[in-house]
Amino acid sequence: MRNLLYNYIVNDFTDHSYKSCLEYFPFDSNILDIGIGNGKMLKTFHPLIRSKQLSITGVDINKVYLKNCKRLIKKYHLQDHLTIYHEPIEYFSPPNNEYYDFVLFSMSFMLFNNQPLILDKVKNYLNPNGEIVFFQTMFKNKSWLLDFTKPKLKYITTIDFGKATYENEFFTLLEKHKLSVSQDKVIPKKFGKGEHRMIVAKQN
Ligand SMILES: C[S@@+](CC[C@H](N)C(=O)[O-])C[C@H]1O[C@@H](n2cnc3c(N)ncnc32)[C@H](O)[C@@H]1O
Repeated sequence: MRNLLYNYIVNDFTDHSYKSCLEYFPFDSNILDIGIGNGKMLKTFHPLIRSKQLSITGVDINKVYLKNCKRLIKKYHLQDHLTIYHEPIEYFSPPNNEYYDFVLFSMSFMLFNNQPLILDKVKNYLNPNGEIVFFQTMFKNKSWLLDFTKPKLKYITTIDFGKATYENEFFTLLEKHKLSVSQDKVIPKKFGKGEHRMIVAKQN
């Protein structure tokens, strides 16, 4: 039920996000996907992941989502391309002291209460030219209604949508962490306020 609800509500976002991000990653990239979710994107993008020879490490705290993700990895024979860990990113350490070409937050960064801590942590997992890729809905103007309602959506939908991401606050946070934006792409969407954006940041 939880997985069905997640699929119904998040489908459109997920496909937009992974399409933009997977197309952005060069051939043979090594990616840490923080909050990989139920792996639904594998249904659409398994040929792309295989043809680009991507290596994805997925981390998530939700056992039910990961169980589904595991099933899809098996179904599409992606065992050589995807490894998943049931762990909060706050406690995760890359196996074998691995470094990644990209750290990906696809609709997950807004869920973290302590975003500065998460950024500090994941910066250490990047290769020297590594980049952090964020896909998220962003708002230009502060709205008390949005701030009040968004965190409460989880009680109605069982899905945690976290807090609203405001453009100026987000860019200030990146700046404070010495991350500069190398790409900022708006992805057209069908409904709702706010913009879907893929933002790529690298260390100064
Ligand atoms: C909105 S979903 C996005 C899933 C997928 N990346 C997508 O774009 O469809 C956010 C995911 O982040 C996971 N998550 C939340 N807090 C986390 C944490 N502390 N560490 C790892 N994953 C977390 C949730 O369980 C959920 O699967």
